[in-house]
Amino acid sequence: TPALASTREELAGLLAGARRTGERVAFVPTMGALHDGHASLVRAARAATTGPVVVSIFVNPMQFAPTEDLDRYPRTLDADLEVCAAEGVDVVFAPSVAEMYPGGFSHESVHDGVTVAPGALATILDGASRPGHFDGVLTVVAKLFGLVRPDVAVFGQKDYQQLVLVRRMVRDLCMGVEVVGAETVREPDGLALSSRNRYLDDGQREVAVALSRALRAAQERAPYGVPAARWAAMSVLKAEAGLELDYLALTSPDLGEPPETGEGRILVAARVGTTRLIDNMPLTFD
Ligand code: PAJ
Repeated sequence: TPALASTREELAGLLAGARRTGERVAFVPTMGALHDGHASLVRAARAATTGPVVVSIFVNPMQFAPTEDLDRYPRTLDADLEVCAAEGVDVVFAPSVAEMYPGGFSHESVHDGVTVAPGALATILDGASRPGHFDGVLTVVAKLFGLVRPDVAVFGQKDYQQLVLVRRMVRDLCMGVEVVGAETVREPDGLALSSRNRYLDDGQREVAVALSRALRAAQERAPYGVPAARWAAMSVLKAEAGLELDYLALTSPDLGEPPETGEGRILVAARVGTTRLIDNMPLTFD
């Protein structure tokens, strides 16, 4: 079973040996409610080092807008520890809000201190729908990197814009962390695993699968170009009553304009009932 640290000092103590011997530290940041998607990131971390694998479990208030689901976000620490034990995690870091934001957290006061400004990439897609979200994500990831000081960190492609922004932060702020992007784990019917799927009732669960079906339809049509791929995805999404589209975007792999030929990305966000779902897939145009 993994060692559990809830303070910075405990974490430092548990990693002191690895730092002395220079073992590679691999890190998987999470907000808990762990599922097979998270488990696959842990397996990628385990494969990246013979040294310690660290998983953090912290529901970061800074990345939730005051109107969002911070309070109803699932918290399942005991089950999460079992998942970590089964995957051979060495250290679980599960700090309190006060531990991560000394003096307590508030959206009003957090910008009195130093935070990470995510730049233009955070103003599009999810950043447009969730102002301030990526400030919160990158600030907490930077803090966690400072505490864990990983050699390698694993993030899921499921949150593709987050992955691109973390890579950009590591590059622009010279953090020297190797970032691994792990493939999205899906249900057999294609729905991307997400902690928020548990909010869906049976009817909504059937609607939700339209996201991945739309992306697959676009993948199939991508050889005919961007408009054909977009049209294929839109016709799947439009047919689905009970699905309120937020955005459908075709981009380059780094979220710029889509290329005429070569690799691209398609990203979708939609609300099903009160639950906001996102998904994305690679595309090949040519
Ligand atoms: P969370 O939503 O818990 O996700 C933790 C990691 O698991 C992220 O890198 C996410 O992309 C990955 N993940 C989630 N679902 C996945 C799936 N179906 N397949 C593969 N990977 C999946 O993302 C966050 O937490 C937070 O923003 C965090 C980075 C921890 C900062 O607070």
